[in-house]
Amino acid sequence: MIVLGFPDYRPQAARLATALGVPYREVALHRFPDGESKVTVPAEAGAAHAVLCRSLDRPNDKLIELLLTAHTLRNQGVQRLTLVAPYLCYMRQDIAFHPGEAVSQRIVGRFLGELCDDVITVDPHLHRIERLEQAIPNARCLTLSAAHPLSDHLAWHWQDPLLLGPDRESAQWVAAIARHHGLDWGVAEKHRHGDREVEIELPAGLNIHGRTVVLVDDVASTGQTLAQAAQALRRHGVTSVHALVTHALCSAEDMTRLHAAGVQSLASSDSVSHASNVVELAGLLAEGVRSLG
Ligand code: R5P
Repeated sequence: MIVLGFPDYRPQAARLATALGVPYREVALHRFPDGESKVTVPAEAGAAHAVLCRSLDRPNDKLIELLLTAHTLRNQGVQRLTLVAPYLCYMRQDIAFHPGEAVSQRIVGRFLGELCDDVITVDPHLHRIERLEQAIPNARCLTLSAAHPLSDHLAWHWQDPLLLGPDRESAQWVAAIARHHGLDWGVAEKHRHGDREVEIELPAGLNIHGRTVVLVDDVASTGQTLAQAAQALRRHGVTSVHALVTHALCSAEDMTRLHAAGVQSLASSDSVSHASNVVELAGLLAEGVRSLG
């Protein structure tokens, strides 16, 4: 077995190789002036089992690079290809909300399943389906959760916080962390009117005055969900608001808006490289790779 990484995800992929006790090699990328990618796999990559480790945030170029890499590896005799993509892209568009919309979850899922034998990811955004195999039908899939590693961070940093999920979908992560530590928790109602237009309704009957609240969600994308939740909480007299997410995708400008809205700190896993990373997933991912045999 060999772990193959890409320059933009080097530290995480190299840590995965170390955790597995196998060699780490890197796929070289070159961007031509016209925007096309040149992919060169290392000469020693012809192992029987290649584990490709790259997160698929900002995915459009990465998907083409994955296609080129996978085909090149197969041509070099790689028999088994495992994709470790801690953040899995295009999972949120899981139905056509309006006529003509592509259901990207199914289309991209099929694409990945045709390239790879196994797909391992962390906290994918599966709301209207239960199992990742339903989105990626041709591959053996493994869904891991960062809830436990993140909850260890939570336990170290805040004493008896109240956990709040900003929308119904977040209930699974909030409940897992809250039960593990015996904490109070609740789930708000979210109304999304556009990419950055979000309204949050706090749950009735939750006593939040004077509490430290930690918002828990799978993804911070624009950060607006967390920002609006923080503003609503502050209007109800909470002492402080922090946020814990598996995948932090938000830009530096989004982070500034998040802080201005009252989120004092954001903590995330290293599924996506981000200034807010506090939890490394290498151990969890290595266990996942091993468990697939
Ligand atoms: C949606 O259901 C997800 O769980 C996140 O709440 C959402 O993707 C966050 O997006 P944003 O940060 O852009 O509000």
